[in-house]
Amino acid sequence: MLARCLFFAVAAGAMCAVTTGVSQAQADREELKLVTPPLSIHRNQIRPPAETLPVPAGFSRDHILHGDRVFHGEAANGQCSVCHGIDGKGTPNGNDLTAGMFVWSDGSVRELKRTILHNMAVAPGMDGDLKPADVDAVAAYVWAISHQTPSQ
Ligand code: HEC
Repeated sequence: MLARCLFFAVAAGAMCAVTTGVSQAQADREELKLVTPPLSIHRNQIRPPAETLPVPAGFSRDHILHGDRVFHGEAANGQCSVCHGIDGKGTPNGNDLTAGMFVWSDGSVRELKRTILHNMAVAPGMDGDLKPADVDAVAAYVWAISHQTPSQ
């Protein structure tokens, strides 16, 4: 009798656990439907054409080409695109740098350079091994991707 009771108690407990497990998973799925997935997952991230991007005053095409390589992890161990996206349009880990509107600066190369240096302090170890010349180039590159014409 005792064994039988125990069996029922365990079976009921197991059923209870399974039932709550399922309904919890369902509730989680329902809740997830309310969350908009990050745009960076669904858009096709196209690398901006460094050969035709605008060049800011006082800089050359070489700066943009080098900045492009730094941004995409091909020089100075840059990690920018990991967080800001291959197209610079942002991911959940770093904001859109192409909108022409910046949170931390007026968007001039000088100010971008300052915020990039500041960002390196908030993302330690994730900003590569940038030397001053690399920072100049990547700042010019960020200016360039924020001044793309709509066709680019
Ligand atoms: C670990 C992720 C990460 C990496 C790597 C990273 N960033 Fe960022 N970046 C961020 C985040 C997050 C912010 C926003 C910080 C804030 O608002 O306080 C930001 C801010 C910026 C801003 C200022 C944007 C604004 O609206 O004013 C610039 C410019 C920038 N990053 C450029 C770069 C460049 C260039 C690199 C590569 C050298 C880089 N970032 C690497 C995450 C990252």
